[in-house]
Amino acid sequence: MKSFLLTTAFITSSITISYAQQPTKSAFLKDNFSFAEKQLTGLTTIADKNDTLYPRTMDKAGNMKGTNKYDWTSGFFAGNLWYTYEYTKSEAIKKEALKWTESLEPVKYFHGHHDVGFMMYCSYGNAYRLTKKAAYKDVLVQTAKSLCTRFNTTVGCIKSWNDFRSMHGNAKYYFPVIIDNMMNLELLFFASKVTGDKTYKDIAIRHAETTMKNHLRKDYSSYHVVCYDTTNGKVLAQETAQGYSDNSMWARGQSWGIYGFTVVYRETKDKRFLETARKMADTFLDNANLPADKVPYWDFNAGQVGYEPSVNSKAKTNPLAHLRDASAAAITSSALFELSTYLGKDGKKYYDAAELILHSLAGDAYRAKLNENANFILMHSVGSIPHGFEVDTPLVYADYYFLEALQRYNNLKK
Ligand code: GLY
Repeated sequence: MKSFLLTTAFITSSITISYAQQPTKSAFLKDNFSFAEKQLTGLTTIADKNDTLYPRTMDKAGNMKGTNKYDWTSGFFAGNLWYTYEYTKSEAIKKEALKWTESLEPVKYFHGHHDVGFMMYCSYGNAYRLTKKAAYKDVLVQTAKSLCTRFNTTVGCIKSWNDFRSMHGNAKYYFPVIIDNMMNLELLFFASKVTGDKTYKDIAIRHAETTMKNHLRKDYSSYHVVCYDTTNGKVLAQETAQGYSDNSMWARGQSWGIYGFTVVYRETKDKRFLETARKMADTFLDNANLPADKVPYWDFNAGQVGYEPSVNSKAKTNPLAHLRDASAAAITSSALFELSTYLGKDGKKYYDAAELILHSLAGDAYRAKLNENANFILMHSVGSIPHGFEVDTPLVYADYYFLEALQRYNNLKK
């Protein structure tokens, strides 16, 4: 009887909470997607004037800055339109989403770097998910084939960049792998599912295992760049390109890892990957240097004793340790919503953090005003402080993961 009463009280209070919260949550979602629809409508008007340039960021004069279709960020704009269409059902947004997706088709044969997963899964992947058009599936499978040409069996990884010149000086490496590469694996799992060919999935799992072994430190923070010897698979260097120092925790790199290992767990149900995703998330969330709004500084260790930028890093003279990275926050929020669903009652910590981050980003400190910020949604991201570019700017991929996090928040009926 006692336990029955307790159970009833628990159920009653959960119902009360969920009824009380629901209008707030749905109003929050409605406000953010209706803002996205207006802001992106403005951005399409600007972008359509030169539709060979894919929106990426804002220049110093406040104008939209785009890239060509072979840049790693080319697929996010289409993805932003797809997520906004999914919620709003705006046919005008869908028309733009189709246009900015289909113009990327030649990328399916591209294998000049590893980022085709970002470029094509965020554009064509969402297009296929929402339209089920068979031709989009074929484009994705061809892209997965192109990506697999960069896999090396001796190393057990997909090569990220064709080479990497160390920020320390002249050393040059020819098989660099960056933690970001975990984000390309979702495309390979997809390709195996739709073709029945295990090869793609096997490559993804091997890449994740090698990354788990060589990219993660004992505290589950991540190195950014690991360089390999292709003759024997040995690690030649563990460095950074976009973080503060080789041994620091670059915020966005950590976010890519949390997200990537969560996906690999989803697709394999192998607990090693879940544990890795969770520990990487703990290292991010429990860090004493994470601000109360949970939007991280661009590097958790910038300016700290024991962390030294390399000689060629602009962070050496100007660490800009106070700058936040909204993109890292958005990626983390989206990843944590998914991670929370795999952890039973332990998932609450991650769900609550994801929700808090989302509300921080949607607040005045990060969400732009209508038709400002070159019509991107979020302000205050960081591209690369060591290279001195995209310092405290909007970034199209911050918007992408913000919209994805909103969509995941919407889908989680809590
Ligand atoms: N994938 C490149 C970056 O995160 O800046």
